Amino acid sequence: MNAALTARCVFLGGPGAGKGTQAKRVAEAAGMAHISTGDMLRAQVARQTPLGTKAKAFMDAGKLVPDDLIIEMVKARIAEPDAKAAWILDGFPRTLPQAKALDQNLSKAASLSHVIYFAVPENVLFGRLTGRRTCSKCGAIWHIENNPTKVSDVCDRCGAGLVQRSDDRPEAIGKRLEEYRTLTAPLLAYYRAHNLLREIDANRPPDVVFQELLKLMQ
Ligand code: AP5
Repeated sequence: MNAALTARCVFLGGPGAGKGTQAKRVAEAAGMAHISTGDMLRAQVARQTPLGTKAKAFMDAGKLVPDDLIIEMVKARIAEPDAKAAWILDGFPRTLPQAKALDQNLSKAASLSHVIYFAVPENVLFGRLTGRRTCSKCGAIWHIENNPTKVSDVCDRCGAGLVQRSDDRPEAIGKRLEEYRTLTAPLLAYYRAHNLLREIDANRPPDVVFQELLKLMQ
């Protein structure tokens, strides 16, 4: 796993493909920074910052937040000391302008190492999102059927309560899938053309996906 310690990776895939679940695990195992734009935005919303206030309406409706807001947020984050050597970008880029902005922001010496596409059929994504529960304190990701906690709605890791994300309602999920198809899926061709794209069949148990990711990221 040493090679991944200096890697700069993008995890790409539809909503609910398992990017967050695996990014947390790989980042912990390999000592990489886990940069989740969704988590960053949710923290801004919770703190009611100006960015959070602007982003909330887009997020609740299942729409992407405007590129200019996201790009500035990510640029600042990857300049932080813990992201100097190795990071996983989870949920960014999601549009062609975001991908181009990322390319411009990275030097040749520290360019992207891998873009990993998490392939999962859409009907499976829907069930993963409606059943997802997240710890309100430590952010651990659970699922009422695929990955349940021992006690209902209580986090196994830290004992705090679980919450359902406001964008995991069926109406918002439909919009998120549509945004993914229209705005994010074109990135597959972009990164394929840059010879960076690697695909993983993420419609398998999380442990199997994790082991294969470790190999792909060597
Ligand atoms: P974000 O938080 O990034 O949401 P997302 O991309 O829609 O992805 P999710 O977090 O829903 O899914 P995931 O792939 O991480 O799956 P997870 O591991 O949780 O973004 C939210 C919103 O913020 C966006 O809609 C947008 O408004 C805004 N935003 C964020 N970034 C933006 C950007 N760059 N530009 C513009 N706007 C942006 O897993 C899902 C469930 O499945 C869990 O319950 C888990 O336990 C279960 N599961 C995971 N893996 C497996 C498996 N292998 N088998 C069975 N179950 C599994």
